[in-house]
Amino acid sequence: MANPKTLDEHREYLYQMVKLQFFFLINWLSGHPKETLSAVLRNRIDIYRKTSINKELLNPAAAKFDCPEWLELEHRLELVYKQYKDNEAAFEEEAFAVFKQTIDERVEKDYKDESRLAGYQCGSLRYNEHEDSLKHETTSFHIANALQPESIFADPQYLPRCFLELMRQTSQKYGSIKLYTGTWLNSLPRWLELFPQEWQDNLSAENTDVQWHYGFWGQFITARGTFNYKYGEIMRQTGKMPFYPKNSSCSFVNMKKHLKEKYGVSD
Ligand SMILES: CC(C)(COP(=O)(O)OP(=O)(O)OC[C@H]1O[C@@H](n2cnc3c(N)ncnc32)[C@H](O)[C@@H]1OP(=O)(O)O)[C@@H](O)C(=O)NCCC(=O)NCCS
Repeated sequence: MANPKTLDEHREYLYQMVKLQFFFLINWLSGHPKETLSAVLRNRIDIYRKTSINKELLNPAAAKFDCPEWLELEHRLELVYKQYKDNEAAFEEEAFAVFKQTIDERVEKDYKDESRLAGYQCGSLRYNEHEDSLKHETTSFHIANALQPESIFADPQYLPRCFLELMRQTSQKYGSIKLYTGTWLNSLPRWLELFPQEWQDNLSAENTDVQWHYGFWGQFITARGTFNYKYGEIMRQTGKMPFYPKNSSCSFVNMKKHLKEKYGVSD
């Protein structure tokens, strides 16, 4: 049994993730000179929601980028960037120093926040709900780890059961017959094993237009919810994420057949 992460480990996770994101930011700007620092900070990394300026939970309804506290941080970051543009390590260290206090102020709230699992109807899977009574042929789903500190991959039948439940609920509610998602996990071999050939055949090209959310950044979180140093190091060495999101889809019929044949699970 893995131990749940401690508050100290959570603080360290936040520090490491923010440092990696500053490493990403300076690299991204050097390859995309037309983009502004502010645009990268707001759209491609998720430092905002880790600061005390975010008074909401993990997924704030709207970021308050126009409030004076945030604008002040951005201004100080611009100054650090001007000074250390050509020195990645110094930039990362000084940029982190600018944000450290506001991150420290939120650590405990962030640690206790369990909203990452809000609305997950099928264990570690969540589907988009619809208000109308129309048929929705395709079910889009999202992935979180409801078993933390254990891995969602530890019990090979766990995710297959979550998928069966998701297909059961969405076929009943919306008449769905297809699964769809876009995620970094679609580049991870042990995730892809869960799906039939149709899913492998439908995989899109990698999406390298990095955005702030877990569809990209979730890969740097371990099963325990700590920082994944192994993947962080790959990014530092190569300047690239270990895994980029791809989209894919398949029919419920093929998915159910695959889950039965490979994992022995069925309705
Ligand atoms: C999805 C998720 C549960 C998958 O995590 P996981 O695969 O169970 O994670 P693990 O802790 O097993 O770590 C993965 C790998 O990193 C390695 N690793 C983890 N921590 C490490 C450390 N401190 N040092 C070295 N290696 C480490 C593991 O050994 C494993 O390596 P392997 O692939 O060679 O076996 C997890 O990434 C997560 O919760 N992410 C956030 C949610 C998310 O991304 N959702 C998708 C949104 S679209």
